[in-house]
This record gives sequence, C-alpha cells and structure tokens, in this order.
Amino acid sequence: MTTRIAVSGESPYDVVVGAGVLEELPSLVDAAAAQVLLVHSHSMSDLATRVETALRDGDVELVRAPVPDGEAAKTVEVADDLWSLLGRHAFTRSDVVVSLGGGAVTDLAGFVAATWLRGVPVVHVPTTVLGMVDAAVGGKTAVNTSEGKNLVGAFYPPAGVLCDLTTLSTLPREDLASGLAEVVKAGFLRDPAILELIEADPAAALDPAGPALLELVERAVRFKADVVGADLRERGGREVLNYGHTLGHAIEKVEEFRWRHGDAVSVGLVYAAELSRLAGRLDGDTVARHRSVLQSLRLPTSYPQGSWPELLKAMSIDKKVRGTTRRFVVLDGIGRPAILEGPELSDLEAAFTALNS
Ligand SMILES: NC(=O)c1ccc[n+]([C@@H]2O[C@H](COP(=O)([O-])OP(=O)(O)OC[C@H]3O[C@@H](n4cnc5c(N)ncnc54)[C@H](O)[C@@H]3O)[C@@H](O)[C@H]2O)c1
Ligand SMILES: [Zn+2]
Repeated sequence: MTTRIAVSGESPYDVVVGAGVLEELPSLVDAAAAQVLLVHSHSMSDLATRVETALRDGDVELVRAPVPDGEAAKTVEVADDLWSLLGRHAFTRSDVVVSLGGGAVTDLAGFVAATWLRGVPVVHVPTTVLGMVDAAVGGKTAVNTSEGKNLVGAFYPPAGVLCDLTTLSTLPREDLASGLAEVVKAGFLRDPAILELIEADPAAALDPAGPALLELVERAVRFKADVVGADLRERGGREVLNYGHTLGHAIEKVEEFRWRHGDAVSVGLVYAAELSRLAGRLDGDTVARHRSVLQSLRLPTSYPQGSWPELLKAMSIDKKVRGTTRRFVVLDGIGRPAILEGPELSDLEAAFTALNS
C-alpha cells in the first residue's frame, strides 16, 4: 500500500511512503526532465541499479554519481565534483537530481541541487529511517566545513520524497534503532500512537519488513511534514523539532561525531524530559516512559561518562541558541511542547544528574 503525504508551503511536494514503491519514482520526477543525476553512496550501487531500472522506463538519460559513504560525502570537495559533473553534462533547470542514501547523501545532493544554476529540482530517496523521517523531509540541506557541521547550506524543499521501506533491509540494526529515536521524539511531541505501537512490540518496530515500522515511519513523516509545512525557514514552529537536540548536539560535539545522531538524541530526550520535570512541567511517569520506550529499542538513555562543564560549553555554542539566552524545548505533557527560556544553570546541572541516576 502506498501513502502520499503532502507537505504544504511555498513549494508543496509529496512524500510517498510504502514497501516496494520504488516504481513510483518516475511519478515524482518531472516528465520534462531529459537527464537525471543519481547521487548515491559507493556502497549502494545495487540499489542504484534498481533506481536506474525504475527510471529507465521513462525516456531519461541517467548519470550516476557515486559518493563516499556517510558523513565523508558532506564536503565542499564532493559538492564541487558533482557541480563539475553537472557542468560536463550541461544540466539545465529542467533536469533533475535524485539522491539515494542516508541523511548525509540527501543533505549533500539537496545542497548541490539548491546551488546548481541557483536551483534544479531534487527528489530524495532516503535509505535510512533517519533519512525518511527527518533529513529528506523539510528542505534543509548542508555540507560541513573545517569549522563545523552543517555550516554551509540552504533551505531548499525537494520536488518529492520516496520512502521505500524495502531499502532498509540492508541497514544495520543499530542504524535503524538510531533513526527510531526521531520517531519516538515525534511520539512525545505530537502522536502518542507512536509510543503505543513501540510499547506493544518493540521487536516489530525494529523489523524493516514488518507493518509496524511502516506505520511508525508514516506517522513520523506526517508529523514532520505538518511542522515544516507551516515553517520552512525555522522562524518559529519548527523549533519544537529540537526536542532532545540541545544536549544531543553537545554529546555529538564532545564525542567528535563518532556517536550516531539518534543515539545522542535518545540521551538528549531523557535529559529534556528530566529538565521538564525539574521545571515543574512534566510528571515523573512520563519521564519514565521516555526511558522505557527508548530502552526497549536498545537506545542509550544516560551518559555517565560525560563531563558536565564540557557539555555545558558545547551547548553554549549551539547555533540554535539565540543571542545569549539559552532556550530548551520542554514538554508540558505528551503532545504539549513549550519553550523554556533562560533556565538556571543549577537546573540544567540537576537535570544532568537526574539523567544519570
Ligand atoms: N537536513 C535535515 O533536516 C537533517 C536532519 C537530520 C539529520 N541530517 C543529517 O543526516 C546525516 C545522518 O543521516 P543518517 O543517520 O541517515 O546517516 P548516514 O547518511 O551517514 O548513513 C549511515 C551509514 O549507513 C549507510 N547506509 C545508508 N543506507 C543504507 C542501507 N539501506 N543499507 C545499508 N547501509 C546504508 C551509509 O552509507 C552510511 O555509511 C547527518 O549528516 C545529519 O546532519 C539532516
Ligand atoms: Zn535530529
């Protein structure tokens, strides 16, 4: 079964979700396109061949662009190689870039598409849970520089997104679970049915071939689509997506990005819940529910090895901090996010102690 989720905004687009829906790809690629640049990780050439077959049914010239695996793809040098390729093939604005891979590939390909001729259409085919529920939806694109992660990029909505759950069959279990941290976040911010589904059968949630994961991805995409449809450029509503991310980003930084993003977010979610409780907003049972849901997916829920002064410093230079006031997304209850401005340092440290106790 195929579900189409509409993302509204200046440039509306559809996210197609289903198992075995790769053949829907031509419907997302502009029929007028003469050429498609297929950007994919080196390691995913088998899948790239499947995409090529799906697209060859149309009358389109396909140029394959293999890029390094994971974060190594998100560099200005790799972007430059892709710009050269687009130049050599005389890509015009009616041609299309297709990305195939995890969030690193969708970020890179989105950025290259945003900048080539000031914007050619891009269709994302995410192959990780994180890519499906987060990176590919919402139009944020970026590459890294020597000064840090995601510092150069653009808000650039795709022309379409295709989430085919069968592409997850080769994804390592740890990567799959890590992506589910964002799904759990969506559950607490908006959709308790997500939490109930995981609680009913955590193993089913981790099975890429089963119906539970399909429903979880659909629900999380619906949530993200709603939020970014109302606020593409991060002027307000989108800030709630940062739930669990302030400490999560600090852990990633302190660990020099050796942690999976979702693992850091998992710890960050428990921290944000503890902070919500200490601020008198959230009850202890809901905090405990954060721990139990995440632990049932074997995600980390504490960070005893962390140095608080180091984490606090890393949080202070988080780009999401506006001016000098620290802002945290907290919960007043399930489905009721709020912003906590300028919490006392003692509360922040107490939440860290609670996280690890
Ligand atoms: N633009 C956004 O809004 C946004 C949101 C969240 C994260 N991101 C970005 O996404 C990136 C992380 O994405 P990710 O977690 O998908 O990691 P990733 O893209 O680095 O992929 C993780 C690893 O899994 C491999 N892989 C991908 N799909 C596979 C599959 N189906 N089978 C086997 N291996 C597969 C990749 O080659 C890579 O080695 C980060 O760069 C982050 O900044 C962007
Ligand atoms: Zn995230």
